[in-house]
Amino acid sequence: MTLEEIAKKMCAKGKGILAADESTGTIAKRFKSINVENTEKNRLIFRQTLFSSEAMKNYIGGVILFDETIKQKTTFGPSVPELISKNDAIPGIKVDKGAKPLAGSSDETVTEGLDGLRERLKEYYELGARFTKWRAVYKIGNKFPSSQSIRSNAHALARYAALVQEAEMVPIVEPEVLMDGSHDINKCYQVTTDVLNECYNELAIHKVNLKGTVLKPNMIIPGSDSTTRSSAEEIAKKTLDCLKKNVPSEVTGIAFLSGGQSEIEASKNLNAINKINDTNFLITFSYGRGLQASALKAFGEDQSNQNNIQKAFDHRAKMNGLSSKGEWSENLEKEVAA
Ligand code: 13P
Repeated sequence: MTLEEIAKKMCAKGKGILAADESTGTIAKRFKSINVENTEKNRLIFRQTLFSSEAMKNYIGGVILFDETIKQKTTFGPSVPELISKNDAIPGIKVDKGAKPLAGSSDETVTEGLDGLRERLKEYYELGARFTKWRAVYKIGNKFPSSQSIRSNAHALARYAALVQEAEMVPIVEPEVLMDGSHDINKCYQVTTDVLNECYNELAIHKVNLKGTVLKPNMIIPGSDSTTRSSAEEIAKKTLDCLKKNVPSEVTGIAFLSGGQSEIEASKNLNAINKINDTNFLITFSYGRGLQASALKAFGEDQSNQNNIQKAFDHRAKMNGLSSKGEWSENLEKEVAA
């Protein structure tokens, strides 16, 4: 498959991406919240339960894995990437080494992981990965994000994307403007504009073929401590407007992160965006918490009840699959839950 074909398959209408690439530290936090011990076995069991679920075939175009997971064998035989491919989804891999303190800035980060990346990419390709992810993080505050943070992260994202395409995989470019803070929706719009602009400047300098990329942005929403709320319609309008103005039309897919929105909010907002999507972008989800929160809760209640865990995951995947076509509704949510 060409890079463009891979990107199209990851974001095909009715499908999206499952972000199951929590690092060992992040999954520790998730497991702590459900009182499950953070062992390699438990991480495998939870993830293989999701990857063998019915929803995989119908609603999931790609799965982002963590280094440990792409090298694991399931308890019933195939390797994890084999299981994912068997279900007609594409295995992907998070390749950044995390957001580290940015020297010269008081409280910001730059994402690291370029050293040795070319060699690691080769290994991941052999393990079955056909796309990758790199996440840059920007915080909104009085003085943030600084131009230093915007420029250094964009530069790293572009160098990453160029290396990934050289290795014949599709880079997911993830510049995440965090929703933490009391800022309003317009501030999020303005910061996201600056961040996207710089990213696409750098991607052009590094000669990245945009058709063979997927953008993973935040939605344009008010900060989590903001006193103002926005309707899904307002979020959709501002998000689509920001993307139209700042993302080159060659980009094949746009798959949002959920970023701390509740499962229902994430589905509702994606649906509202797709209802008014008049672009050629394939607009869908690349959710971590937005797809897994209910399944994780079920796993906490009874780790051996595969049925309940898969039921919860199937439902969320189906709802988001509908949202990727603008066909979700609150009523459907109730019907399936009942
Ligand atoms: P959330 O959907 O939980 O924000 O996670 C997506 C992700 O992969 C962040 O890098």
